[in-house]
Amino acid sequence: MDSIIVNGGKELSGVIPIAGAKNACLTLMPATLLSEEPLTLTNAPRLSDIKTMTQLLESLGAEVTSMQDGQVQAMSCHGAINHVAEYDIVRKMRASNLVLGPLLAREGQAVVSLPGGCAIGARPMDIHTNGLEAMGATIELKDGYLHAKAPMGGLKGAVIDFPFASVGATENIMMAATLAKGTTVINNAAREPEIVDLADCLRKMGAQIEGDGSPSITIQGVDRLHGATHPVVTDRIELGTYMLAPAIAGGEVELLGGRINLIEAFCEKLDTAGISVTETERGLKVARKNGRLSAVDVVTEPFPGFPTDLQAQMMALLCTAEGTSVLEEKIFENRFMHAPELIRMGANIEVNGGTATVHGVNRLKGAPVMATDLRASVSLILAGLAAEGETRVSRVYHLDRGYEQVVRKFSGVDAQIERIKDE
Ligand code: EPU
Repeated sequence: MDSIIVNGGKELSGVIPIAGAKNACLTLMPATLLSEEPLTLTNAPRLSDIKTMTQLLESLGAEVTSMQDGQVQAMSCHGAINHVAEYDIVRKMRASNLVLGPLLAREGQAVVSLPGGCAIGARPMDIHTNGLEAMGATIELKDGYLHAKAPMGGLKGAVIDFPFASVGATENIMMAATLAKGTTVINNAAREPEIVDLADCLRKMGAQIEGDGSPSITIQGVDRLHGATHPVVTDRIELGTYMLAPAIAGGEVELLGGRINLIEAFCEKLDTAGISVTETERGLKVARKNGRLSAVDVVTEPFPGFPTDLQAQMMALLCTAEGTSVLEEKIFENRFMHAPELIRMGANIEVNGGTATVHGVNRLKGAPVMATDLRASVSLILAGLAAEGETRVSRVYHLDRGYEQVVRKFSGVDAQIERIKDE
C-alpha cells in the first residue's frame, strides 16, 4: 500500500487538465451490452475503477480494447453473452450494478451479485429493482445474487415514480428501457450531467430519449441499438477538487476543460467563501479573493444542488475559514469519516449525525492520516496543502479509483507532493 506525502504552505500556480468523468464512464461502458455493434468511448479517465468495469464486461463476454494509454475504450459485444456478474468483481465496485438493466434488456435475464454496503452508507438497490419490476421483470434474491428475468417478449414500458432521484437507478432503468416494448417514463429522475451524457450516447446508438437533465425522462423502446463513438463528459468532481487546491493553498490555477454549468452550486459557495472563479477560453481560473476565507453553510443534494462527492473536499477548505460553517450530508448516512482525520491535523469539527459543524482555525498542522474512501482521501491531500509541515496520507489506493495521475497533477501546479511505497 502506498502513501502520499504532502508538504504544505506553498502557493500554487499553473494549469491542471481535467479528465473525463469516472461516474459517466462507468455507466457508458455497460451500455455496450445493449448492442452487437462496437461502442467507442474517447476521453476515458485512466482509473482502477475503469479497469474493474473492463474486467466485468470481459467476464460477460465483451471484448474491450484500451488505446492511447487507456483514454479510448473500444468495446464490442457481438457474440453470445454471459448474464452472470460475479461477486468477486462486483464487491470491488458498486457501479458494477449498472450491468443489471442492460443485461436484462438484451438477454432477458441477469444474475448480478448484490454489491453490499460500503464505507459511506448502506446503499440498497430497491429503487433499481422496483423500477425493473414495474417493467415486468421478476427479481429474486438468492445466495447474495439478484436473479432477474424479463417477461416473455421482453421488458415493457412503464411509468416509474422514483421515491428519490437515484443516479444509478435512473441509469439502469434508462438503459433497460431503450430496448423495452413501448414507452417508459421515469419521474423524479436524477438530473446529473452524467445522466445527460449517458442519454447523449444512447441517442447516438439509436435510442429515443427525451427529457434527460429534467426530473422526467421519457424513453421510447426500439428494436435494436447500433454502434457509436462518444466522448466522456468532463469530470465535475475532479474539477471541483482541483479548484479547491488554490482556494486552500493560495495562488492561481487554471482548470482545463472546466465549465461553471457543471458545478454551479459549488461555485456559488466558493464565491461566498471568498474565492473567485472566472471562465477562460480553456476552462476555469480559480484564485482567492483578498483576505481570509469566510465560513459557509453547505447542504448536499442531488444535482443541481451541492454534490455529496465534493463535501469532504469542501470541509477541508472550511477548516481554516473565519467563522463557523455547518455542513449537512443529505445523500449518504456515513460520509464524514474524513472529519476525525482532519481533527488530527488541528481542525475543530463536531459531527452530530448527518451534520458537521466546522469552527475555522488559523492553521492546520501536518500529521499522519488515513484515507477511508475516495473523496475522503483527496480531502486529506487538500488539507495537507494548507497545513504547516508534513502530512502523510496512507491507504491511497482509494485515490487510484477516481483520480488519475494525482501526484503529477498537483505537482504540475507546484504542490510539494510525492507518492512513496510503504515498507
Ligand atoms: N438509494 C436507495 N435505494 C436505491 C438506490 C439508492 O436507497 O435503490 C439511496 C442510496 O443509499 C444513497 C442515495 O440513494 O443514500 C443516493 O444514491 P444514488 O443511487 O443516487 O447513488 P449511486 O448511483 O449509487 C452515484 C455515484 C456516487 C455519488 C452518488 C450521488 C457512480 C458510479 N457513483 O452513486 O459517486 O456519490 O451517485 O451523487 O455514479 C464517488 O464517485 O465517490 C461516488 C460515491
